[in-house]
Amino acid sequence: MDEEAKRPVFGNRFLSETDNVFQHNAWDNVEWTKEQETEARKITQGHSCEPLPEDEKDNLLNDASSNWDKFYEKHNNKFFKDRHWLFTEFPELLSITSKSASSVDDTAECSHNDDEGHAPCSNKSDGLHFPGSSKQSCVLEIGCGAGNTIFPLLQVNTSNELFVYGCDYSSTAVDIIKSHRDFDDSRCHVFAHDITSDAKFPFPEQSLDIIVMIFVLSALEFDKMKAAVHRIVQLLKPGGKLLFRDYGRYDMAQLRFKKNRCLSENFYTRGDGTLVYFFTQDEVRDIFTSAGLVENQNIVDRRLQVNRARQLKMYRVWVQAKYVKPL
Ligand SMILES: C[S@@+](CC[C@H](N)C(=O)[O-])C[C@H]1O[C@@H](n2cnc3c(N)ncnc32)[C@H](O)[C@@H]1O
Repeated sequence: MDEEAKRPVFGNRFLSETDNVFQHNAWDNVEWTKEQETEARKITQGHSCEPLPEDEKDNLLNDASSNWDKFYEKHNNKFFKDRHWLFTEFPELLSITSKSASSVDDTAECSHNDDEGHAPCSNKSDGLHFPGSSKQSCVLEIGCGAGNTIFPLLQVNTSNELFVYGCDYSSTAVDIIKSHRDFDDSRCHVFAHDITSDAKFPFPEQSLDIIVMIFVLSALEFDKMKAAVHRIVQLLKPGGKLLFRDYGRYDMAQLRFKKNRCLSENFYTRGDGTLVYFFTQDEVRDIFTSAGLVENQNIVDRRLQVNRARQLKMYRVWVQAKYVKPL
């Protein structure tokens, strides 16, 4: 695991004079030259020419969740920083409650939508009881890890109408969240769940206003992504949103992989056995639109991070996207 997920708050600092590169720690929206792109392609082609032997691949795929358990046993909740940039990039996480709480009458029929096409239907009216069933606005984080998104979200959005679910296939991660001093089961429900399985979720389909996927889809085998996303999308209310951020193709973390870490094109194992895929924008688009979602945003975020002391330049690449479930 590397530094990418510890990314600081997004900025708006643009590098206009290349000579100034070591004057700051990071630059936003950095343009890549053709040569840089060609070099990156060459490096990654080299990786996939020397993939891991089949039996090692099988072991890594079979042990994927236990390797994440070991990761959390080792790092507990100390590895990822809390994601306060979430609210800059995904203000929807704050606005869902301000909209639905003010506009919803519990007895209203579920066919009524607000002016942004968001269906303000609570789960209250159908008589089912499950964690969060009395709440108006429900968010699920998939691959919630040790809670670095869930806790900031609950801290910043204090609406009584918000309920947050979190799932992760590492039961160690789930236990870390449950034992956190701020964990409050009247506002939050976390559970172990593997999104490549067809196990049931602890709430009905069409219950969620927002699904958050941050650096999680990249942990799956590429061939399993579409089916997983298709299942997840059933959980969204019509008008609900899926917020996505993950590793982009040719990110520094990809280019730095040594030989024999590649399972298949653009899919690697880190030293601790956890797995990571590096996406293009088109792949992300295809995965989510194939599941019936409509694109709101799909951007490549390129950032140049600088180690001023060691005069090192690190080119980071992430894909960020937002998709909506049609009404
Ligand atoms: C890179 S970590 C990101 C954690 C968290 N989203 C964050 O940004 O701090 C990836 C997480 O996805 C989880 N994960 C990987 N594959 C999964 C799967 N098939 N189902 C559920 N969770 C999974 C891992 O256990 C790990 O906690």
